[in-house]
Amino acid sequence: MKDQTRPKRGQQKVKEAMGLNFDPVKISNAYDDWAGSYDEDCSEICYEAPSIMVDLFLQVVERPPLQEESLKILDVGCGTGFVGNILAERGFTTVDGCDLSEPMVEEARRKQAYRELFGGVNILHNNTWPPSKYDAVLCSGLFTHGHLKPSALGDLVQMAKQGGLVVISARACYYEQQNLEDEIQRLVNYGKVARVHRWMNRPYFTNQYGHYFALQIT
Ligand SMILES: C[S@@+](CC[C@H](N)C(=O)[O-])C[C@H]1O[C@@H](n2cnc3c(N)ncnc32)[C@H](O)[C@@H]1O
Repeated sequence: MKDQTRPKRGQQKVKEAMGLNFDPVKISNAYDDWAGSYDEDCSEICYEAPSIMVDLFLQVVERPPLQEESLKILDVGCGTGFVGNILAERGFTTVDGCDLSEPMVEEARRKQAYRELFGGVNILHNNTWPPSKYDAVLCSGLFTHGHLKPSALGDLVQMAKQGGLVVISARACYYEQQNLEDEIQRLVNYGKVARVHRWMNRPYFTNQYGHYFALQIT
């Protein structure tokens, strides 16, 4: 018999995750617990942000001189590895991932899509990590309620090489509520990044829209 309670768990888990209040300890504990069923729950809510974000990255990267499958890519907040998995299917072989939650990283490791994975990494206020800069820094699912504040975009910018890319997804309601646009414009005004491309109001998950941004380090 079909378990009638199952279809609701994905929505419930997302609701809980949105209440984590930008607190790394709460976030880490919540994802440690969620790791085992995260992929299944995301499939229930038709979570499309990782694939749309990678599509935007591919559209931008296919323009020379960045067009190379050997690009060194960092998937920030890689979770169970959706982004790395899609990139591996597209032929990218030098993709690293990092995440606060060790159990999420353990799930990502099973997908065998990453070169290196780093668990227990809080990307905020961490001046010594990563040890070297990346051609592209991708971040799916963190610019959302209770996870990263818009100022974290500055931390991602620090992780990419000059001329490299930062590509992110943002839930549309978060973008409005947290004024993510102001942070992007601030980085543009300071000469840190240039806008390359954006997709607004694309699917994120069921009944939710997202915005997707590609920025180049200047
Ligand atoms: C919604 S999940 C997204 C996972 C994956 N990128 C995806 O799109 O499926 C958010 C992930 O970000 C991680 N995370 C949240 N804040 C973080 C931080 N400050 N540093 C590193 N990882 C963080 C969480 O542990 C969790 O695995």
